[in-house]
Amino acid sequence: MHQASYLPESGTSILSVLQGGYNHPLAREWQAERHLRKLMFIFPIFVSDDDEEEVEIPSLPRIKRHGINKLLNYMKPLVEKGLKAVILFGVILKEGVKDDVGTAADDPNGPVIQAIRLLRKHFPDLYIMCDVCLCEYTDHGHCGILNDDGSLKREPSVLRIGSVAVNYAKAGANCVAPSDMMDGRIKEIKLGLIQAKLENKVLVMSYLAKFLGSLYGPFRDIAGSAPSHGDRKLYQLPSGGAGLARRALVRDMEEGADAFLVKPSTFYLDIVSEALRMCKDYPLCVYQVSGEYAMLHAAAEKGVVDLKEIAFEAHNGFLRAGARLFISYFTPEFLDWLDE
Ligand code: PBG
Ligand code: ZN
Repeated sequence: MHQASYLPESGTSILSVLQGGYNHPLAREWQAERHLRKLMFIFPIFVSDDDEEEVEIPSLPRIKRHGINKLLNYMKPLVEKGLKAVILFGVILKEGVKDDVGTAADDPNGPVIQAIRLLRKHFPDLYIMCDVCLCEYTDHGHCGILNDDGSLKREPSVLRIGSVAVNYAKAGANCVAPSDMMDGRIKEIKLGLIQAKLENKVLVMSYLAKFLGSLYGPFRDIAGSAPSHGDRKLYQLPSGGAGLARRALVRDMEEGADAFLVKPSTFYLDIVSEALRMCKDYPLCVYQVSGEYAMLHAAAEKGVVDLKEIAFEAHNGFLRAGARLFISYFTPEFLDWLDE
């Protein structure tokens, strides 16, 4: 009878036989602890101060920048397909609007506040998140307020970031996500929300780890936010800085963050796993940034990968590492690819 060479007598353990466990498509699905779902996807939306604009930027394939008058037509089919959440970024194209404190960030007639109001009104169930930063609105393109010698002024930067966040919340944002990496901004935002009596309505998502690197190029093209001088190394984390990421996580937990975000994604999944271990009681989000997304498109164009397959593989990797949510430029595709 049992002649198979798998039998222990032949020197091979019975545990070596795995393939029966994933022979059927359903059994293969069962191997995953969690599955991709539409509700996990947050779509970045770029809104400019040119009301009629609708342009694609070559370095960020398939992603458009919209003027306020073009936003609803673009969003409607996505919401109908099951889009649940967006994160808004403002873009200033008009000359002479950027200044040294980023006044345009929360200008009541600026792109972000206008977009919050419009989307809130037309899509009452859409979850509206706002990236909170100054680099898209300052004339020097840095994420905070600078001294004359170009160094950062921490305290005024944090106060300014705090008031921008509160103004987004007042306009109707469900979540504010500060990406500036200034020390102490989570606490400032939480205190500001308490003062505005919005602390029980608005989620504060901390970019716990935002690593400095080469992956933000297409974003800076579409948002026009490249620093005019210097770089961001005195506030974004060095790529080897796992310890700094852990310390930032502990600090931001103590400052009252409600959720955490790691960015970029693919090269930093160890940080995601560690963050999961350290803050398993919080929703954890990963941001597949513009450079990562553009690289996958470039590889697909060259015939190196299949775009859909690599997108699934990447996002399954985020799930395995422990992320529950993704900010992803692939969101529109996943709304087509996923059933629920
Ligand atoms: C603003 C901000 C940036 C990104 C998100 N928020 C740009 C930067 O820090 O230079 C990058 C996102 C992406 O590349 O997709 N600070
Ligand atoms: Zn910034």
